[in-house]
Amino acid sequence: MESNEIRKRFLKFFEKRGHKIIPSASLVPENDPSVLFNIAGMQPLMPHLLGLKHPQGKRLANSQKCVRTIDLEEVGDSTHLTFFEMLGNWSLGDYFKEDAIKWSYEFLTKKDEGLGLDVSRLYVTVFGGSEAVVRDLESVEIWKALGIPEHRIYFKSSKSNWWSAGTNSPAGPSTEMFYDLTGSLGDMNQEQFEKAEDEQKVVEIWNDVFMAYKQEDGKVAGELPNKNVDTGAGLERVTTVAQGKKSIYETDIFAPVMNMIKENSQNYDERSARIIADHLRSSIFLISDGVIPGNKDQGYVLRRLIRRAVFKIDQIGLDSGFIKKILEIFVDKYKTQYSNILQNDKITEQVIFDEESKFRKTLKEGLKEFEKGIDPFILATTYGFPIELTAELAHELGKEIDLEDFHKKMAEHQRLSQTASAGMFKGGLANHNKKTIRLHTAHHLLLAGLQTVIGPEIKQRGSNITEERLRIDFLCDHKLTDEEKKKVENWVNEKIKRGLDVVRKEMPLEEAKRIGAEMEFGAKYADMVSVYFIQDKEGNIFSKEFCGGPHVSNTKELSKFKIQKEEAVAQGIRRIKAVLL
Ligand code: SER
Repeated sequence: MESNEIRKRFLKFFEKRGHKIIPSASLVPENDPSVLFNIAGMQPLMPHLLGLKHPQGKRLANSQKCVRTIDLEEVGDSTHLTFFEMLGNWSLGDYFKEDAIKWSYEFLTKKDEGLGLDVSRLYVTVFGGSEAVVRDLESVEIWKALGIPEHRIYFKSSKSNWWSAGTNSPAGPSTEMFYDLTGSLGDMNQEQFEKAEDEQKVVEIWNDVFMAYKQEDGKVAGELPNKNVDTGAGLERVTTVAQGKKSIYETDIFAPVMNMIKENSQNYDERSARIIADHLRSSIFLISDGVIPGNKDQGYVLRRLIRRAVFKIDQIGLDSGFIKKILEIFVDKYKTQYSNILQNDKITEQVIFDEESKFRKTLKEGLKEFEKGIDPFILATTYGFPIELTAELAHELGKEIDLEDFHKKMAEHQRLSQTASAGMFKGGLANHNKKTIRLHTAHHLLLAGLQTVIGPEIKQRGSNITEERLRIDFLCDHKLTDEEKKKVENWVNEKIKRGLDVVRKEMPLEEAKRIGAEMEFGAKYADMVSVYFIQDKEGNIFSKEFCGGPHVSNTKELSKFKIQKEEAVAQGIRRIKAVLL
């Protein structure tokens, strides 16, 4: 069964059980500057897990695009990826443990509407209890009733079977499902099971979280208004087991690219090939969601991914002309499910090629610097060398580098550069503070101002808001003149002064499209959307945008708007940074 079919089956399975299918949110969280990327399907749903009513109801399911950089070191083994899709179903105060577990089990094992996996290769773990929450005996009983023998159910501690998305987050105990990749493990005691997990002979394929608690500062701080369910199954892992493979890279998702790399490399190395495939696939998704290589935040992650891929390509003796082919294969794979991948394919290529050539230029200079003496920090900050590159170069000379020192210096560097990341990890959703909200409304006005002054062809391609400033990336074929910038600034300031109302309306997607509400280039939306209008008392509308909010209620609250910087970030894409004074 192909991965595209598995995704389809999953969504159909839950749709049949009363779930509304919602589109994947962008990889870059909207309105949540506490994290760089969505790391799980529950992340964009956080406000709803905390109690806010969801417009689509209490049962939801989707396939969410995720990026986890924490696993970067593990990328290249058989189960970890930078970008992955997470299949998930949610109950917002509706069904709980019994149905959640039963449906996970049915989807995994049923032949007609699920994956038809072999029950004798399945193992499960449940929450073993903590000071705050008791051991989850209820889930054990549910698993047993479904036919999982007791000796294949293992209790695990909070470390692995308690889930939260950070220190301040909805949270809860989980039960996880594992599958035997080898087909020969049979019954195992807990110790044997844990060893098999370490050796990647069994792999976690699904996690059902019973999100009924609120976590504050990393501690359980009471119950949530609702008992929720949050489940997550990595599509790539599920595909691996459904296709009877031993590694993610052998599935239909990666095999064509892996084969191509293998056939065309002079010094083929499996791990490097996997890293190349993973990093380029991740880059496609990141760029399509508006990320551009840069020196901090999301841009820095993307830069590292592209540069490391290029470095590995050189290392295994693959002609870099193959990058284009690799991109084409992946775009083809995802074009139906994620239309923005196809819409952005030329931009994606351009961004990757630009970054490749920048890297090759600095590589030459960096290598000279390297010969003078190895300082990974200087190589990273001045020449953009991925730390892995410096490490490998040093290794070839029989030298080791001090990673701890490097990370310490980098952290300090980030702190001092007073970048967005300085304000980034402060408060999570709490960061919906007044400053961010004001900038968010200013962002809408700025886009409308650009379209009025320059033309309706201006389209937003990405955005990022911190407490200090807003940033917008947009499609535009020229550098803005001083006069254009001034006009845009004046337009926005005039709207601020007029004290316009900011009004939210919920409407069907079709209606929002019909009235021409601004949508992000290539983004996907649910059937019901919310649109923010900025309008005067007579009903004249100056801005209408698809947006989840929040916003100020009147533009008067913004005081004064100022453009700080306008620059190119890639061919045909400009970036503005602006502040409110
Ligand atoms: N949030 C949980 C996870 O990411 C289940 O979706 O594993």
